[in-house]
Amino acid sequence: MEKVEIYDTTLRDGEQSPGCSLNDEEKMQVAEQLERLHVDVIEAGFPASSLDDFKAVQDIAHEIKESTVTGLARCVKSDIDACWEALKDTESPRVHVFIATSPIHMAYKLKKTPDQVIEMAVQSVKYARKFFPQIEFSAEDASRSDLDFLSQVVDATIQAGATVINLPDTVGYSTPVEFANMFRYIRNHVSDDSRVRYSCHCHNDLGMATANTLASVEAGVRQVECTVNGVGERAGNVALEEVGAALHVRKDVFHVTTQLNMKEIKKTSSMVSRLMHSPIQANKAIVGANAFAHEAGIHQDGVLKNPKTYEIMSPSLIGLDKTELVLGKHSGRHALIAKASELGFHLEENEVNHCFKAFKEMADEKKTISDTDLVNFFKHEQVSI
Ligand code: KIV
Ligand code: ZN
Repeated sequence: MEKVEIYDTTLRDGEQSPGCSLNDEEKMQVAEQLERLHVDVIEAGFPASSLDDFKAVQDIAHEIKESTVTGLARCVKSDIDACWEALKDTESPRVHVFIATSPIHMAYKLKKTPDQVIEMAVQSVKYARKFFPQIEFSAEDASRSDLDFLSQVVDATIQAGATVINLPDTVGYSTPVEFANMFRYIRNHVSDDSRVRYSCHCHNDLGMATANTLASVEAGVRQVECTVNGVGERAGNVALEEVGAALHVRKDVFHVTTQLNMKEIKKTSSMVSRLMHSPIQANKAIVGANAFAHEAGIHQDGVLKNPKTYEIMSPSLIGLDKTELVLGKHSGRHALIAKASELGFHLEENEVNHCFKAFKEMADEKKTISDTDLVNFFKHEQVSI
């Protein structure tokens, strides 16, 4: 199976989001955890944007050995120089240069003509080529760009020496079919892309970032850019754990592998959430508190008989100990018996009916029932130990 490289931009695109900034020490902690997660590439920051970012990229580049470390640069020589200064001592430095290619960005943000944009992109890639063995070029707002123009830009930057071509859905506007077709169109219209890896970078404004990312993998993309917990500007970037789990669980559909150490997913997610003060919604796919929790009686009964009835992956896949049976008013007798045993009690058959009735009364009154509540409950009901 072909490999899809995982490019993590938690420390660049993720860190850009309001309230999520990290100090140098915290960035290093996240980078080291990303290395344990075995991501292929860590985008550690935007060196030209501030002295702090420069220092963080430089420090991370010194420390991290297993993942490629990269930094962002506009199509400006001084940005590329800053990246080189920060990254020059690493084994395989990569620079990530970008410029917008959509009509609205070129006219209003850059105030450049399409010809000027191509020229800037080509000159920057050529300049970066003098220093860097790996050059990623991103056409910002690619999904809202004219496809013919986009293929000219991609063609020209490949000729100039780009080794990775990233086509972002910068504003989270694309749909899965549209996004995949953009990659197919570009691949069909570029003269020689045999040495290039295509990359996607999806934002989640319409909640389609994961679907768009996976659709592009089906269209031949072999690098996906993502952030832990989907942190990032506005509605965020595509969540690393969602893409990683989908590619793993649905290998039968995607026929690709990643080198992710999936067992580190939960730990990484909790670390990023804690350091960025960014709580994870309970029903968040893969890493939410309820992602492996069951309260409904029918589900609990099924999971106790065979976890695969209601779980498409084992919690151990992401480094969690076990499925959680949450006891509440929807729970059934089997879950109560199992929970009693988990907490060190033994419910005799003749105690079950009485205890279950008392439990339902408690559950009707309380919204959440903790393990401590249950221990007190079993003691109160004089259930044997
Ligand atoms: O969303 C985006 O287009 C970006 C680029 C800089 C790659 O973050
Ligand atoms: Zn982005």
